[in-house]
Amino acid sequence: MYFCWEKLVPNKSGRLPPGPTGLPIVGSLHKLGAKPNEALTALARTHGPIMTLRLGFLTTVVVSSSDMAREVLQKNDQAFAGRVILDAVTVDSHHNFSIAWGQVGPYWRTLRRLCNTQLFTTQRLDALQALRHRKVHELLELVDQYSDARKAVHMGRMAFVTSLNLLSNMIFSSDMVDPQSESVGELKELIWSIMEGVGTPNIADYFPFLRPLDPQGIKRKNIVQVRRLHQLLNEKIDERVGARERGQPIYGDFIDVLLDYSDQESGSKFSRAGILAPLVDMYLAGSDTTATTLEWAMAELLHNPEKMAAAKQELKENIAGSMHTVQESDLGRLPYLQAVVKETLRLHPPVPLLLPHRADVTVKVSGYVIPEHTQVLVNAWAIGRDVQVWENPTAFIPERFVGSNIDFKGRDFQYIPFGAGRRICPGLPLGVRMVHIMLASLLHSFYWELPDGLKPEEMDIKDKFGVTLQKAVPLVAVPVKYLGGVAA
Ligand code: HEM
Repeated sequence: MYFCWEKLVPNKSGRLPPGPTGLPIVGSLHKLGAKPNEALTALARTHGPIMTLRLGFLTTVVVSSSDMAREVLQKNDQAFAGRVILDAVTVDSHHNFSIAWGQVGPYWRTLRRLCNTQLFTTQRLDALQALRHRKVHELLELVDQYSDARKAVHMGRMAFVTSLNLLSNMIFSSDMVDPQSESVGELKELIWSIMEGVGTPNIADYFPFLRPLDPQGIKRKNIVQVRRLHQLLNEKIDERVGARERGQPIYGDFIDVLLDYSDQESGSKFSRAGILAPLVDMYLAGSDTTATTLEWAMAELLHNPEKMAAAKQELKENIAGSMHTVQESDLGRLPYLQAVVKETLRLHPPVPLLLPHRADVTVKVSGYVIPEHTQVLVNAWAIGRDVQVWENPTAFIPERFVGSNIDFKGRDFQYIPFGAGRRICPGLPLGVRMVHIMLASLLHSFYWELPDGLKPEEMDIKDKFGVTLQKAVPLVAVPVKYLGGVAA
């Protein structure tokens, strides 16, 4: 005798959306494979743009078209704004204090408001622009050394270090990793490892009674790493609290904003845990996503030399000479570069299934009933490659975005690499600036070549599923500087 979900929940109109017949106990878990975004896209071809899968004990509805994404993220935004909490993110109750994993409620709304009105505003980001320019300049100096040594750059690793330091400077006005170091520093290691833990399919997420056993040891490993990350961040926070107590001038960076708010709200939930959790969120959500986008953009440009030439030509025409460093204020004059970033995010959305949403109440969508606490996954990867919407969807064609109004800000549901609605990525304005300024600077100051005589058409551009969708074979490329050296 076994539990047969399909018999209990027939796929009739008015009930759950249709879906594949799963196996006893595991349901359709075995169908997800190593690339769930692709497996779910294939299943949607058979079962439709809104389908139900039983994944162990977790009933999951998967949305795979722009129309259905609009139903979930706009029309029923409030109902679907909950989160399914993965076991790996429950270390020291992180999920109760986090923006990314918090359930919708007054505390989560306060955090989002703080992000939207204090941290990621144009004014604050403009004010902290000089910090980013300094980091980008260091990046160019590092690449210059590689160029002198005729050594290939490991693009993802370099972008990751730069993104981490860009974030650290926005938050603490200082570096957290040695930008010159080739070795994997402690913070990098911790973030990678925590992300890997969160991204590994965890049997305990599908069979909740297994949570206390933690059969794969994912949570046990994460406990050690998250606590060490807390320790590192606490040291930096303590330093700043001390400086403020000694009356040193306010920097106006993110930690100052959070400490000001915490002082104002003393005695509320916004204590040290209320500062730590959003910082952990920013490091985890902001570093790998940004670095992966940059790596994919460079990979696609190296794979498509005529697009690379067009991007470089635009820079040449709009920025005064290769010796001139690109400034964020220049970016508005670079529509092709912006289109390259958009096209990269369409083909390679770093968070292909968004973060797992949850129905907070029972909702009717397209005649189907989605019960409270159902997991809802939005396949942004499939939506960005939908043949009904995108011409030649698997080709890298930045031109499709030139002169087009389609944007990633959550209004155009055929293109949602940052999500949409209440849960849209709050770091979007910062992430976009970081990717653009790094990419423009790397392209403007250097020519890029593939190593060992590799031809563009021979490049491996397959991806590898995880919390972020990374290149399966890391991109390495050789920088060749213009005569006269790096921009100053
Ligand atoms: C290219 C860069 C980035 C991409 C593509 C990206 C994408 C996303 C996506 C798809 C989500 C989930 C949306 C959903 O579940 O509906 C998300 C959430 C989030 N992102 Fe980003 N992100 C990027 C950069 C950043 C940066 C730089 C930060 C902060 C420093 C950040 C902070 C967050 C946070 C805190 C959440 C959780 C929001 C919530 O659940 O309410 N992201 N991001």
